[in-house]
Amino acid sequence: MEQINNYISQHKDRFISELIELLKLPSISADSAFSHDVLETAKMVQQSLINAGCDQTEICETKGYPVVYAEKMVDPNLPTILVYGHYDVQPPDPINLWDSPPFEPVIKKTELHPDGAIFARGACDDKGQMYMHVKAVEFMIKNNQLPCNVKFMIEGEEEVGSDSLADFLHDNKEKLSNDIILISDTGMIANDVPSITTGLRGLSYVEVEVTGPNRDLHSGIYGGAVPNPINVLAKMIASLHDNDHHITVPHFYDKVVVVSKAEREEMAKAPFNLEEYKKALDIGDVMGEKGFTTSERYSIRPTLDVNGIWGGYTGEGAKTVIASKAYAKISMRLVPHQDPDEITDLFSKHFESIAPKGVKVKVTPHHGGLPYVTNMDSIGYKAAAKAYETTFGRTPIPERTGGSIPIVALFEQVLGSKTILMGFGLDSDAIHSPNEHFGVWNYLKGIETIPYFYKYYTELYS
Ligand code: BES
Ligand code: MN
Ligand code: MN
Repeated sequence: MEQINNYISQHKDRFISELIELLKLPSISADSAFSHDVLETAKMVQQSLINAGCDQTEICETKGYPVVYAEKMVDPNLPTILVYGHYDVQPPDPINLWDSPPFEPVIKKTELHPDGAIFARGACDDKGQMYMHVKAVEFMIKNNQLPCNVKFMIEGEEEVGSDSLADFLHDNKEKLSNDIILISDTGMIANDVPSITTGLRGLSYVEVEVTGPNRDLHSGIYGGAVPNPINVLAKMIASLHDNDHHITVPHFYDKVVVVSKAEREEMAKAPFNLEEYKKALDIGDVMGEKGFTTSERYSIRPTLDVNGIWGGYTGEGAKTVIASKAYAKISMRLVPHQDPDEITDLFSKHFESIAPKGVKVKVTPHHGGLPYVTNMDSIGYKAAAKAYETTFGRTPIPERTGGSIPIVALFEQVLGSKTILMGFGLDSDAIHSPNEHFGVWNYLKGIETIPYFYKYYTELYS
């Protein structure tokens, strides 16, 4: 296994240039104008798995974008690891805030990435992290070091809610059968503080529409006498939190698991510097639910956030108008044991109930997803921890993250498998934001660490 370091030194330029080629394709799943590029990306991922030495690969059609499947079976008596990742990316907007074009990758040094980082949409989320697995498996196959069976399932709709995936799992249970699922689509605390993600939040995402008068009106002739849907929407949204930043939707917290004091104390040991946090984001102060620390607020507590709000005149100059309609997109991050459908329902009922008589309200649910937590007693966690110890020289810290990967709970429900989340990105890598990047060091460290997970998992399994 020590050969991995030699293999990386020999091939790292190629590893980087291959990833750069993959990042040039704008596989934006949210925007149908890019559907051709999304499909081309699937083909490129398939080709990379063929080149890595997988002996069966396939582009599997779904209702939406296809899933790239590949496998290398060594021996049916050995364990099988299923690698999941996604080849689609977030839209790059706002494009004018990028220092270099989002689909023309460049390597630049940063304070946290002195060895350079690759700047491109998808560099960290998730093409770069997904591709670490392709390269790690390439190493193991080409050097006769693959200790168990491996399957890949790389999807193209994660950033839009993995809508086709539930059916895909149900229809392909046999093909996807595995002992453990391995994902690199989260982050770690710092390059010298490795961590393993032990929890993900769930998600309930809705869009709301408030309608006032049946047409846009002159704000002088009618202003002051009719409900202005934008004013009304702003007030309704403001009322969704109280002064302690608790969410006011009735029964919202009913099923929230209360994390024990002991566990919270354990979590508080993870390094976190509030001053640096504020400085990195250029905010005067943090803001959140009373009674919880910043790291608790973004991991073990649920949230309600407006993601977008629009209506009326937003062009250049001023237009005196009272709009007929106002809109907002709202996400709620959920924690165990909140149920996304139930929360969407509670939200809708509440939002309709607080609307003044003068307006009509419509709530449209978008995607949702269940939260997920794992324990540290599993052989999967132990193998991952040992792998980090080997390549980082430090025991990883278990960490619950605020982000969501809805497929993880589905994997458990449909395939009965647990997931290990080995993320190598940093929070500062700007995923979903302008200037997303992924450290070259992180990329290569991931490729180095993954084969050890295979080794230790197979050893612990038998
Ligand atoms: N890779 C992220 C999720 C993530 C990032 C988890 C960092 C933890 C740390 C994933 O691609 C993502 O963006 N998920 C979406 C949800 C999805 C349903 C659109 C999210 O969390 O907003
Ligand atoms: Mn992702
Ligand atoms: Mn994402």
